[in-house]
Amino acid sequence: MSRRAVLAGIATGAGAAAAGAAVWPLAAAIVDPLLDDTSPQDAPWVEVAGEKELRLDVPLKATVRVAVRDGFFTTLVELGAVWLQKRPDGKITALSNTCPHLGCGIGLDPKGGFACPCHDSRFAIDGSYVNGPSPRSMDPLPVRVEQGRVLVQALRFATGTKVRRPI
Ligand code: FES
Repeated sequence: MSRRAVLAGIATGAGAAAAGAAVWPLAAAIVDPLLDDTSPQDAPWVEVAGEKELRLDVPLKATVRVAVRDGFFTTLVELGAVWLQKRPDGKITALSNTCPHLGCGIGLDPKGGFACPCHDSRFAIDGSYVNGPSPRSMDPLPVRVEQGRVLVQALRFATGTKVRRPI
């Protein structure tokens, strides 16, 4: 093999390596989200109240906080709030207080049920849509009770859509 052919081979290899190094971050940025296997079902279960705090058919607002570890410190970060209710059959339900319209906090309506103060969407006591610009009913969250503590899964949903889509 001639000296010229060897040098040309080295130059070609170096060029290919340089091109690969330049393109890889871009390719990784495009492909990585597609390989991300986290899903809404992986949302954390968060303890929000004691079962004994709930009174029959009286909605209780509970804050959803998760512990976030940063180096040596653990900080509680507030994700939002839920409305818990205990039904006559003993079942406990949770409704996200995030309005499906644009995300304001939903409160109790003095006339009954729930109301959003931002654009006056109204919901029945079971969270079903009554009227206003909200595109859907309030978002229910999975609930479970463990050793007298009520836990909800901290799911979040897209706002402004008729279809309930976890994000
Ligand atoms: S954000 Fe609730 S009605 Fe608009």
